[in-house]
Amino acid sequence: MKAVVRTRYGDSDVLRMTTLAQPVPRRNEVLVRVMAAGLDYGQWHLMAGKPYAMRLATGLRKPRQPVLGMDLSGVVEAVGAEVTRFKVGDAVFGASSRTYADFASVREDELCLKPARLSFEQAAAAAISGVTALVGLRDVAKVQPGQSVCVIGAGGGVGSFAIQLARHFGAEVAAVCSTSKVEFVRALGATSVIDYTKQPLPTDGRFDVILDLAGHRPLGMLRGALAPRGTLVLVGGEAGDRITGGMGRMLRALLWSVFLEQRLCMLVSFVKPEPLQALADILALPGVTPAVDRVLPLEQVADGMRALVSGRVRGKLVLRVAA
Ligand SMILES: NC(=O)c1ccc[n+]([C@@H]2O[C@H](COP(=O)([O-])OP(=O)(O)OC[C@H]3O[C@@H](n4cnc5c(N)ncnc54)[C@H](OP(=O)(O)O)[C@@H]3O)[C@@H](O)[C@H]2O)c1
Repeated sequence: MKAVVRTRYGDSDVLRMTTLAQPVPRRNEVLVRVMAAGLDYGQWHLMAGKPYAMRLATGLRKPRQPVLGMDLSGVVEAVGAEVTRFKVGDAVFGASSRTYADFASVREDELCLKPARLSFEQAAAAAISGVTALVGLRDVAKVQPGQSVCVIGAGGGVGSFAIQLARHFGAEVAAVCSTSKVEFVRALGATSVIDYTKQPLPTDGRFDVILDLAGHRPLGMLRGALAPRGTLVLVGGEAGDRITGGMGRMLRALLWSVFLEQRLCMLVSFVKPEPLQALADILALPGVTPAVDRVLPLEQVADGMRALVSGRVRGKLVLRVAA
């Protein structure tokens, strides 16, 4: 089967197509013929080996595991002896590892049935960004109807889900993005837009919840925009230091939070079965739809990585794997 691999860390030049043996599913695994695979910052980090601290887990000098890819959608080709939820021919989506390949062997609890209203490309964009937004809003911030939610980095992968999910939960959404994404975030349902290239964040404590996905703004600035008993959820951003990627700000937030009425939280999201199924249930009905900017053939994965770091992508990028 064809697959995208890298044998060292670096920029997109380290990626290459190769031919590998098809994986054999274990007893609790499903062999998925991959139709499409999402491309997100997690894959960029795994490619680049940055922030450096992550190499403790992924391999110090070179990646332990050469095949990239986590998000996927596809069709069940075979099932292991203990698999009960899926049968051959089912259309599925989810997140696992080594999905930038024709076939992926995936634990059954990492998959859900693909909502029929979604294309394979839309479904492949959903698991990582959708679950991150869902868990951040529903479980960490506990968003309630009528609350005011600010999404910083609203025009990207996680942000495009966060706008729609916050509206789904009945909240008002202020989307923070650059000028080029203003119309995009409005179309996703943002009730107001802050173009950060022209306007600073407000300082009147108007937001019940802030989901912080980009920009690495100082905690004091974020707290100024947050209501006195509001919740700040720090999720990500690419402006952190090269060693830890900005963990220092997250740890400071946790420490401060002990002394404040405002809740300052950090989110490290994993695609677990319950939120993945909850996301699938939401996506099965009209209202929340993965916002796919562009679909590229798997062979153009390096172009996808370059587009992602350029900051020009609106919503999600997807790689088409099967012809
Ligand atoms: N903690 C976790 O478990 C977890 C899970 C998923 C992702 N993440 C992290 O979360 C971050 C967002 O992920 P993503 O997939 O949504 O990335 P993405 O698709 O690249 O979106 C990031 C967005 O932020 C915007 N942005 C850049 N600088 C900004 C600034 N100063 N202020 C406001 N917006 C700014 C970008 O566009 P514009 O500048 O044009 O508006 C872009 O739309 C990444 O760092 C990722 O690694 C963390």
